[in-house]
Amino acid sequence: MITVHTIAELRSVLNAERRNGKRIGFVPTMGNLHEGHLQLIDQAKASSDVVVSSIFVNPLQFGAGEDLGNYPRTLQQDQEKLESRGCDFLFAPTDEEVYPHGREAQTQVEVPVISDLYCGASRPGHFRGVATVVAKLFGMVQPDVAIFGEKDFQQLMVIRRMTEDLSLPVEIQGSPIARNEKGLALSSRNGYLSAEELETATVLNATLRNASEQISNGQKDFAAIAEQAQNELEQAGFERDYYAICRRADLQPASEDDKELVILAAARLGPARLIDNIQIDL
Ligand code: PAF
Repeated sequence: MITVHTIAELRSVLNAERRNGKRIGFVPTMGNLHEGHLQLIDQAKASSDVVVSSIFVNPLQFGAGEDLGNYPRTLQQDQEKLESRGCDFLFAPTDEEVYPHGREAQTQVEVPVISDLYCGASRPGHFRGVATVVAKLFGMVQPDVAIFGEKDFQQLMVIRRMTEDLSLPVEIQGSPIARNEKGLALSSRNGYLSAEELETATVLNATLRNASEQISNGQKDFAAIAEQAQNELEQAGFERDYYAICRRADLQPASEDDKELVILAAARLGPARLIDNIQIDL
């Protein structure tokens, strides 16, 4: 695997591949890679000829008081993992390479409506930061296909909408959530949890499975189902953020007639804010 740090180097290696007719697959990440990220690499390999990953802890998507400063930076281990999974190129730029005019002067990409819901309401400006950096990374890598994890379901929807609205020639693929043996969605932020908290964290997915079962069995009082789940989370030691039973197409609150649903949930446990979701087809 070749690691490059500048856009000029990246363009030079990828132009050579493109001239040879290779299809470029892209997996953007913020590093501190786990099995979930590596499954994105597997999917990119299955969908393209040459796989590029990026590691960039994007300051623009962190709010004041969030974990930008503590976010784990583990480049060497990440390089080894990517290499062992057959990634061809790693792009690991500095802040200055990505935001040469400074963050304040950066042109930004705003995906309206959907960016203000759920995680966007809890983390104002977060999805503007995500959409901006992903649009820039697409411009730098110029991939044919890009893979994103479905754990960040709302993020995936924001990126799909941005790609469509800006007519970017990139196919966006989602990849199923990777979980540990107890059902906990893999996340770099699980690293903030103690052994006891890691055990408690599994309750988040358990509530989603339970809520999904109730809905599949015909229960339609979505507000009551969400409230019950939030109470269970609080009893387990979580702090509420949101628990939303949504229509999958646009993430608006689901109505009784909707058939394709997703439950999006976020809750804080000790030092970590955890998110998870479950899709339901009625
Ligand atoms: O999901 C992530 O790791 C980040 O939000 C992404 C898509 C790499 C943009 O910084």
